Amino acid sequence: MKLFPNKILMIEDNPDDVIITKRMIGKTSEECEIEVASTGKEGMERLEKSAFDCLLLDHRLPDTNALEFLKKVRQGYPHLPVIILTGLHDDRLLTGALKLGAVNFLTKDKIDGLSEAILQAVVSGRRAGFLDKQEYVYTKLIESMGEGLFSLDMQETIVFVNQRMADLLAYSEAELLGQSIFSLIKKDETKRWEEEYQAIKQGRRRGFEIDLIGKAKEVVPTLINLTPLFDNKESFNGSLGLVADLSELKRMEARLRESERLTVMSQIAGEAVHEIRNPLSIIRTGLYLLKGYIPKNEKTERKLSQIDEAITRTTSYLEDLLSLSRPPILNAEMIDLKKAIDQSLEEIPPYFLANIILTKNIQEGLFIEADLNRLKQVFVNLIKNSCEIMKAEGILEISAERSQTEESDFVLIRFADAGHGIPVENFEKIFDPFFTTKSKGTGLGLAICKRIVEAHQGKIEVESRLNVGTKFTVRLPMRVTA
Ligand SMILES: Nc1ncnc2c1ncn2[C@@H]1O[C@H](COP(=O)(O)OP(=O)(O)OP(=O)(O)O)[C@@H](O)[C@H]1O
Ligand SMILES: [Mg+2]
Repeated sequence: MKLFPNKILMIEDNPDDVIITKRMIGKTSEECEIEVASTGKEGMERLEKSAFDCLLLDHRLPDTNALEFLKKVRQGYPHLPVIILTGLHDDRLLTGALKLGAVNFLTKDKIDGLSEAILQAVVSGRRAGFLDKQEYVYTKLIESMGEGLFSLDMQETIVFVNQRMADLLAYSEAELLGQSIFSLIKKDETKRWEEEYQAIKQGRRRGFEIDLIGKAKEVVPTLINLTPLFDNKESFNGSLGLVADLSELKRMEARLRESERLTVMSQIAGEAVHEIRNPLSIIRTGLYLLKGYIPKNEKTERKLSQIDEAITRTTSYLEDLLSLSRPPILNAEMIDLKKAIDQSLEEIPPYFLANIILTKNIQEGLFIEADLNRLKQVFVNLIKNSCEIMKAEGILEISAERSQTEESDFVLIRFADAGHGIPVENFEKIFDPFFTTKSKGTGLGLAICKRIVEAHQGKIEVESRLNVGTKFTVRLPMRVTA
């Protein structure tokens, strides 16, 4: 008999009872080993020393009584099967012992039933142990699962949520309990929920995407798998929902769509540049030739130089477009950052800086490995943007410093202006090619800056406060690694 214990501890001070009990057990199992202790103290010592499958306990012990002893046993061995052997039927002892779990009783006149009682005690001990473990496992599972879980009653009120569900919507579990599910569904999605829930009420399972609303009114895109619940008369009794957060997936989809859009745009731009560059150089050559034929006077000179400037502007725009359509190739060398910033400032047309108060705070001797011309392009774009935003007057602070930690070594170059700032809705878009809020802007400046900085394995970050100002921070490693 597989379940029958291999090792039993018997606590009994009467040698006759020991002999009778051993005989009874021997009839059922010859392999079962029985250790005997004659006092509670000795019994406890034996329990601590080795593992037993069952405990037979005399109701009267010389140094303690069965209930007191059982209480101690339960602290260390909550599911050990215990049988109390008693000379008489004692209801008080019975109820007290039953409260202590997994206990069987046997009056000594019914000792024939001992093996059966031992088996029952083993089975109920195992069941108690399993249920305890199962409840623990379920609780852990529900709390640690990556998905939100909730249950609704007949009125579609939340009667259960797990921690993940609460986290998903930035509520506490207590705040969600008792709320109607409709308080969590985006207004324009309620009709959809009702349609889906009709199917649930008819006993069908449904999986659907729906936008929920978090505590701070933020939209959380989710996938909900709903299962109907029934009472024991098989009537509909509520539902159980499993909720997956789709925010990251949706963000990735949007990023993918955006990068596909940019790739296509850059390709078209690249092709357009090639098509326009040739005729443009023909025009430029023609212009030089024309200069030799046309009689020189002020009017023609002015016209010709206007055409020349227009060609230069178009060429530089084409260069910008081209640098977007392919990753910049760097010609990296050791450069002095202070010099690079000064040279960039020299390239800014004077009228840009005319009424700007410029402060420079640049650490001396900052040498980094970078492509000088490309980096100047970044600085010029950022300085021009700040000046344009501040229009007639304002303060522009340029600073550069080295930032060294155990893990990294880089420089931080900051351009902080006192312009009107960037509205929140534009924050995500300013680095997109062709995004501009200026009537004559191309929207290529920051997109190019980002590409150049990233080609240097750096980062460009922006902080902005409306009507206070904007700060662009360019973070560049000291050296570009291959
Ligand atoms: N310092 C700044 N303060 C406030 N807004 C800024 C600042 N720099 C850039 N922006 C915003 O970002 C947008 C994109 O800038 P970007 O340099 O890419 O293009 P642009 O300046 O509009 O055009 P272009 O560079 O061709 O003149 C700007 O139109 C502006 O709305
Ligand atoms: Mg710009």
